[in-house]
Amino acid sequence: MARGTIQICSECGFQTAQWLGQCPGCEAWNTLVEERIPTARGAMGRGGASGNGVTGRGRGGGIGSAKGSGGAGGAGLRLAPRLLSEVGSTPVARMSTGIGELDRVLGGGLVPGSLVLLGGSPGIGKSTLTNMVLGNLAAAGQRTLYVSGEESAEQVRLRAERLVLNPAADPGAGPTLAMLSGENRARAAESLNPALKVPILAETDLETVLGTLAGEAPEVCVIDSVQTLNAAELSGAPGSVGQVREVAGRIMELAKARQIAVILVGHVTKDGALAGPRVLEHLVDCVLQFEGERERPYRELRALKNRFGSTNEAGLFEMRQGGLVEVLDASARFVAEATRAPGSVVLAAMEGSRPLLVEVQALVAPSELEQPRRVVSGMDRNRLALVLAILGRHGRVGTAGADVFVNVVGGVRVDEPGVDLAVALAVASASRGVALKGTPRACFGELGLTGELRWVGHPERRLEEARKHGLRDTIAPPGSGAGAREVGTLRDALRAALPAGERDQRPLAVIS
Ligand code: TYD
Ligand code: MG
Repeated sequence: MARGTIQICSECGFQTAQWLGQCPGCEAWNTLVEERIPTARGAMGRGGASGNGVTGRGRGGGIGSAKGSGGAGGAGLRLAPRLLSEVGSTPVARMSTGIGELDRVLGGGLVPGSLVLLGGSPGIGKSTLTNMVLGNLAAAGQRTLYVSGEESAEQVRLRAERLVLNPAADPGAGPTLAMLSGENRARAAESLNPALKVPILAETDLETVLGTLAGEAPEVCVIDSVQTLNAAELSGAPGSVGQVREVAGRIMELAKARQIAVILVGHVTKDGALAGPRVLEHLVDCVLQFEGERERPYRELRALKNRFGSTNEAGLFEMRQGGLVEVLDASARFVAEATRAPGSVVLAAMEGSRPLLVEVQALVAPSELEQPRRVVSGMDRNRLALVLAILGRHGRVGTAGADVFVNVVGGVRVDEPGVDLAVALAVASASRGVALKGTPRACFGELGLTGELRWVGHPERRLEEARKHGLRDTIAPPGSGAGAREVGTLRDALRAALPAGERDQRPLAVIS
């Protein structure tokens, strides 16, 4: 074990000099995390590891005067608290990242001196996004720094070249550059491409990174990734909980002191168990999650925590040859791609403050399993179970003995109650093997346990979005307003959506 560090139990705070598998204090397993021994100053500032003074240091200074003077009131200074109304409020300044969707998710842009954690599984596009952000900021005249612990400077340069110079991304630059060759081409590329104007430091040693950061004093810095930096005082491997916490903590101290906005990139594995981003969530100002399926081009950026904005917003991107492209007309695309086949319905959803039309697809097939499968993607699994139960009880669409698959198309995730009706109609349509009337048919609404359809937020914006994309007669809960085909119950909704004669037949899945 490295000198100057101790092992602290993350559950009970027990401290020991040596790493142990089981904490002698609370008997929990694998909870001991390596930390630097707090110094007197450190112990005051960094709440976490302070406390029972294992080292004997950290309590020394000034004890003589403190003793006796405090009594029951404690030995600290007495300050006068202020009324909130007397506290000055300066409007938060924002830097535009040049990427509208990202700015919106951040709450209007990057806040100077803030710490943003960008999490996502490997290969999802975190480096691409942060490269683009720094390129844009550099082009806007900001001082930037890209710290790469993962890739070499050459690798990062190769990506930066691809980003802007790809003809699809920059139609003007492509053909012109293609006509040049060799050295000329390289020089022209350099002068054209702001992504190449970003200073890079390929380094994994924390002290070196901190030293460079302090010296360069950039306004915006990207650390890619927090798991690759190594604090030499700790013996744990880079990426371990102790290391990640130490790295982020030290960077934060410096960033706050120097007003450097920092984007920390962090990998999350599928099970989220890897030491890393999760242990940092409380520390940073903003947690962004980059999601999507690697095989599909769509990527969704969500804020899980944001001290400077709402966590409702989501941004949609498409991964192309030339990097990430904002998807501004997502509704139009998803409606155009909707299959209109049995089992397909369009959901008029709300993504934060923005309406979005997405296709919900269902497949109902006879199951050979004792416990039939329920597979969802893009929504909560428990919600599907609930909708199936309501559908069986109040809509006479039974799915017992059938496998049910439900997919929100395009890799988008819908986390709102309005999805209920779409799932119900998609499953009913799939189970009967008939397409909905007037497909592509839009709908939204929450299902109550007694089979009633309940009002959901922003009906007018959902209806407007549906209308804008040529979908009329949207099935919606009572009180949704003009332009909606309002229905009060699930049964009425099925009647409105399924063609006559098909409504009361027994489902295909159960017949076969
Ligand atoms: P990357 O940003 O390296 O992912 P992460 O940092 O999250 O691990 O990008 C991952 C994938 O994106 C990579 O497999 C290739 C693809 N990609 C493109 O399709 N187009 C591009 O312009 C770039 C830069 C990457
Ligand atoms: Mg990367």
